[in-house]
Amino acid sequence: MAAASSATLKSSSVIDKCEWIKGQSLRQASAAFVRCHPTSPSALTVRASSYADELVKTAKTIASPGRGILAMDESNATCGKRLASIGLENTEANRQAYRTLLVSAPGLGEYISGAILFEETLYQSTTDGKKMVDVLVEQNIVPGIKVDKGLVPLPGSNNESWCQGLDGLSSRTAAYYQQGARFAKWRTVVSIPNGPSALAVKEAAWGLARYAAISQDSGLVPIVEPEILLDGDHGIDRTFEVAQKVWAEVFFYLAENNVMFEGILLKPSMVTPGAESKDKATPQQVADYTLKLLHRRIPPAVPGIMFLSGGQSEVEATLNLNAMNQSPNPWHVSFSYARALQNTCLKTWGGRPENVKAAQDTLLVRAKANSLAQLGKYTGDGESEEAKKGMFVKGYVY
Ligand code: 13P
Repeated sequence: MAAASSATLKSSSVIDKCEWIKGQSLRQASAAFVRCHPTSPSALTVRASSYADELVKTAKTIASPGRGILAMDESNATCGKRLASIGLENTEANRQAYRTLLVSAPGLGEYISGAILFEETLYQSTTDGKKMVDVLVEQNIVPGIKVDKGLVPLPGSNNESWCQGLDGLSSRTAAYYQQGARFAKWRTVVSIPNGPSALAVKEAAWGLARYAAISQDSGLVPIVEPEILLDGDHGIDRTFEVAQKVWAEVFFYLAENNVMFEGILLKPSMVTPGAESKDKATPQQVADYTLKLLHRRIPPAVPGIMFLSGGQSEVEATLNLNAMNQSPNPWHVSFSYARALQNTCLKTWGGRPENVKAAQDTLLVRAKANSLAQLGKYTGDGESEEAKKGMFVKGYVY
């Protein structure tokens, strides 16, 4: 595979400054092969990424105690919807202003270990002319990149979708590494009300596995995200059943593609009733179901489970995470929230320069609350009414 060799090997200040890659030089990705029983006709060839050690290190850095991921990788279309909600036009300047606010919130790195960026942001500068990735690295935050190209209808299924982006992925991941990214995200979805059909689940799992193998080959830790959508009126047991099926297939294909489990991160949905269900689950119930699922399906070699918020309110997402961290887990159980970290922050900003500081403070409040939840020490005291509002949107796209 082409990987780093196909990219411009220009040096980057990011690479010079990164703690977690100190002492590691840029290299051509030369595949390492381990051949077992070489004389046997059924010889097994296992391919290990030349970045193996670095992948493990990056994954561990992201999965560090009391920290989680800020997902700020909304596509331009989705970012436009966010900006429209506060009366702003979807211009590059407005997206830049908002993302500058996020990455430069003072002290963010105490609670945030990684930030997922959209491609535009990976190559963008802040409003005062510094590269966004450099600002993140100075904050001790690992830059990541959304690499999927979004969802399209899956022919032959029950109105389900599949995720685009494998074509040309290895050259893109190599270039993203050069630009300073050290992890990647690929979000595909599974819909419970629409099935899920066996075809849609298999396609989701296979796509994630191919993406994960390609990312590791370029030195990027893949976040594996089969989002089981909140849409539907089903109960929590149905979500549990579907999640078991989905994760079984995902790990089957990850293994088939020789993905190194120590060098991945997962981004599951929590196991909850459907958003339109008459039942509501307590944080304790969500934690019990979700941890049962993880224990049944996720090998302990995986370093971190970084949940998405999926339309839960900011407080709900934090309470649920806290409930999952009341006793030790085999993996780092943490967050990779977009809406549940950004909602109050965006509203507080409202596009006004004079509100930047207040908006950054609210981002830090949420980041700290989730940091405490990662440590199992969040109490839920003193939360605002805004932070308790749900954000579920039917048929949400990212
Ligand atoms: P939410 O936390 O808003 O669900 O977004 C997380 C994410 O990155 C979805 O891919």
